Amino acid sequence: MELTLKNVSKAFGEKAVLHRFSHRFSEGKTTCVMGPSGCGKTTLLRLLLGLETPDSGEILGMEQRKKSAVFQENRLCEAVSAVSNLRMVSPSLSRKEAEGLLSRLGLGDSLHQPVREFSGGMKRRVAILRALSAEYDILLADEPFQGLDEATKHMTMEYFQQQTAGKTVLLVTHGEEEAAFFGGETLLL
Ligand SMILES: Nc1ncnc2c1ncn2[C@@H]1O[C@H](COP(=O)(O)OP(=O)(O)OP(=O)(O)O)[C@@H](O)[C@H]1O
Ligand SMILES: [Mg+2]
Repeated sequence: MELTLKNVSKAFGEKAVLHRFSHRFSEGKTTCVMGPSGCGKTTLLRLLLGLETPDSGEILGMEQRKKSAVFQENRLCEAVSAVSNLRMVSPSLSRKEAEGLLSRLGLGDSLHQPVREFSGGMKRRVAILRALSAEYDILLADEPFQGLDEATKHMTMEYFQQQTAGKTVLLVTHGEEEAAFFGGETLLL
């Protein structure tokens, strides 16, 4: 069943964020979710993850699907290493495999340092790798490439695209350039 929202409304107090919103996401594709700050992109992802409940309407196609997420904030365990952050979520990942993934995104020199000592861009890459190394059918990524310099962003986007090929991905972004890179469908909220 394709991931579908039917007439979904969500308000916080007086503030209507989604009003009778309907959309069907293409299976196995990346949809870039775009729109100005405060328009409800994170709220949409939170509704899909079951972290918020719609006031009315239906969300179909999320049951019994494995979900993974890159949250807008990193939500890492700051006291432990990047390797441990990945293996905590994906216990089947060996230490060597985790090291390989982190090295692939330029973190090879900091594998065993506590994540609290990482820069913002380094933390972001750990958060992305953690989400990608989990088992999932649907990936929800909230501005995953924010805070990365151009070269690192490019390397990370290429890796992300490779890894998510054939999966249903909702990618929240403010960047036209990013949307063009992923080339899939765009949902303007
Ligand atoms: N828990 C909450 N309680 C009250 N208001 C909320 C709550 N969560 C979100 N909102 C409001 O809902 C609106 C949409 O917020 P949301 O975080 O979904 O925006 P966004 O599109 O992700 O913005 P940004 O691009 O800045 O991340 C905002 O006006 C926000 O203040
Ligand atoms: Mg947001």
